[in-house]
Amino acid sequence: MNKATRKAIIAGNWKMNMTPSEAAVAVKKTAELVEGKNGCEVVLCVPFVDIAAAVEAAKGTNVKIGAQNVHFEAKGAFTGEISAAMLVECGVEYVVIGHSERRQYFGETDETVNKRTKAALAAGLKVLLCLGEVRDERLAGITDEVVSMQTKLDLAGISAEDMKNVIIAYEPVWAIGTGLTATPEQADETCGVIRATIAKLYGNDVAEATTIQYGGSMNDQNAAELLSKYHVDGGLIGGASLVPEKFDAIVTAAQ
Ligand code: 13P
Repeated sequence: MNKATRKAIIAGNWKMNMTPSEAAVAVKKTAELVEGKNGCEVVLCVPFVDIAAAVEAAKGTNVKIGAQNVHFEAKGAFTGEISAAMLVECGVEYVVIGHSERRQYFGETDETVNKRTKAALAAGLKVLLCLGEVRDERLAGITDEVVSMQTKLDLAGISAEDMKNVIIAYEPVWAIGTGLTATPEQADETCGVIRATIAKLYGNDVAEATTIQYGGSMNDQNAAELLSKYHVDGGLIGGASLVPEKFDAIVTAAQ
């Protein structure tokens, strides 16, 4: 198994953008542009309230719909939360877990990321598991230690079989929404560290088969070079995914 045989995944993370009617238009437009571009999986991760409109608009296209979070309990008194079964019944196939904005603003920890990941996998969802270092950690030279620790904690207790449905999104926090992108070499090196950690946990075959995306100011200009790197198997795209033409250019770069 090598880069050529790993499934490339280009996923948009809309974050808190787009109302349901705007989502329907944007999904349709994106689907028209990416039609027939089957060299990678195309996913749009939309706000919960947009899911119904997005799933409807994506019907019969090669765009898959994802959510941006999921709760770890199956049901109960968890006001404001959404379960994995709810997402599945709505037609969601992917879910973003552990995004740095959730870790930073909503108290997400490696422990809750791990629990959410297990719940999502048990329900049959594919997980886009986000991790990455903050600026001070990179400056202190401890990026490798940080991403390796996050990988181990976030995947604790998850089986090799379940790893088929886990995609890692390496998102250096200092590169998110800042216009600062990791260089292709930095992205490749750190995605390589994550892959080596997966190899320690699950062996080489699982590590070589796991899709690892880069995220952080990826756009239509820098995508081709980032995606050409051995360990970079796709992208998780914020800002540029809100503009169908820009997102399509990234999908095209991944073909
Ligand atoms: P930007 O592409 O806007 O930097 O966001 C990246 C990201 O956080 C995707 O999850």
